[in-house]
Amino acid sequence: MNPLTSVRGSIATGFVVALLVSLLIGPTGFMELGLARWLHVLSGVMWIGLLWYFNVVQVPALAEAAVDKGGPGGAGISKYVAPRAMFWFRWASLATWLTGAWYLLRAGNFAGAFMLGLGSNPTNYYQLIIGIGAWLGTIMLFNVWALIWPNQKKILGLVPASDDEKTRARKVALYASRSNFVLSISLLLCMGSASHGLPF
Ligand code: HEM
Repeated sequence: MNPLTSVRGSIATGFVVALLVSLLIGPTGFMELGLARWLHVLSGVMWIGLLWYFNVVQVPALAEAAVDKGGPGGAGISKYVAPRAMFWFRWASLATWLTGAWYLLRAGNFAGAFMLGLGSNPTNYYQLIIGIGAWLGTIMLFNVWALIWPNQKKILGLVPASDDEKTRARKVALYASRSNFVLSISLLLCMGSASHGLPF
């Protein structure tokens, strides 16, 4: 059967191709940090990719559908797209945090990063920069699981909620998602700069 006809088959094929690519490059010995970073970047792309999709595509599209009186409406997005997107979004957020923490722990930088390199003399800029990124990622993870997902369940009708509760839930979910959108830009500055240097 063609594995590309299913999401699961495509993901599995992607990992097989990645294994072939690494065999092609030639064995460099198992690098736990390399595995942690790779899985971290994979889950980070899924999380941030869906966060940006929600903010620049889905929310504006649903707003346009709501005011387009003669149009098809947004019910299809809310019923078929949003629940699926929320599933990959929230679990990718957890996977990103866990793989980032795994990297910090294995590299002996967990405490130093979350203490922003404070107490190191001279200042440990790696711990400071990756620490700021890790704190931003931690705040964003909190927003996903404590604010966005519980309110999205009400909005999407996955849990019972009155119209007033849905109105409140839309506001909380929107501002929590917009805040994560804003924070993600600085987070990626820190993630990319920790070991490569800041761009300015
Ligand atoms: C939205 C969340 C996040 C995204 C999209 C993300 C993305 C990335 C990316 C793309 C890199 C690779 C940078 C490079 O190789 O130059 C990276 C590195 C890293 N990230 Fe994250 N990250 C996120 C959250 C976190 C969190 C919450 C932690 C810690 C708990 C963390 C810890 C790390 C560490 C330790 C590195 C390796 C830095 C290095 O030594 O180069 N990240 N991250």
